[in-house]
Amino acid sequence: MRIVLVGPPGAGKGTQATRLAEKLRVPHISTGDLFRANISQQTELGKLAKSYMDAGNLVPDEVTIAMAKDRMEQPDAERGFLLDGFPRNVSQAEALDELLTIEGIKLDAVLDLEAPEEEVVKRIAGRRICRNDSSHVFHVTYKKAAKEGVCDVCGGELYQRDDDSEETVRTRLEVYHTQTEPIIDYYKSQGLVVTIEAMGPVEEVTARALAALKREG
Ligand code: AP5
Ligand code: ZN
Repeated sequence: MRIVLVGPPGAGKGTQATRLAEKLRVPHISTGDLFRANISQQTELGKLAKSYMDAGNLVPDEVTIAMAKDRMEQPDAERGFLLDGFPRNVSQAEALDELLTIEGIKLDAVLDLEAPEEEVVKRIAGRRICRNDSSHVFHVTYKKAAKEGVCDVCGGELYQRDDDSEETVRTRLEVYHTQTEPIIDYYKSQGLVVTIEAMGPVEEVTARALAALKREG
């Protein structure tokens, strides 16, 4: 299956993508995670991306599209993929369409995770991530680590993302409304959008997404 996950920052895209990718046996491709890996490895791409990310703005399309394309061309993505955080504006959606057309493949669905703004702000403010593995995600109230500051899975140090400050989150939400939301209409015109209520326990949101994909498939 080839799926795009869209939704405001903090809606739970990464959380759901990790779970859905495992169940659907496709790789989870997160452009945010790819940028963060470049930042921690101090690559040129990481240095460039960091300045945009810390301000809550989108990294320029040219480098983002090239990075996403490169990842989608890896052998494990042949059987499908779950895109998390890409595309993020209409020109990235158009670039993805071009790429899929060249490959002769199509998206199966675009899952639009919906959560109210006050909830996503709470989720982001309390999020803590493992330094060893960005899929080990915790929350100070919703998903507490057994020992404060330590990852339950691997013992790594938990940290708060630089772009999770209150001020940057406000910019990220604004960028989401102005630049990313228009892709929902773009995909609606292709009949691909399925809205998923992202409130409630993580497991219930996953179940809703899987049920919706079954209906679509
Ligand atoms: P990115 O990493 O994609 O961040 P984002 O879209 O802002 O989304 P988040 O990672 O903040 O949230 P999420 O929806 O994944 O929520 P999560 O599952 O962690 O992008 C970061 C930056 O990179 C961008 O600002 C941009 O600069 C750059 N970038 C990335 N892609 C780009 C692109 N294509 N083009 C240009 N620039 C790009 O959940 C949040 C918290 O809530 C967690 O603590 C979790 O435990 C908790 N939680 C999750 N679900 C639930 C639930 N159901 N109930 C209670 N708590 C929950
Ligand atoms: Zn860990």
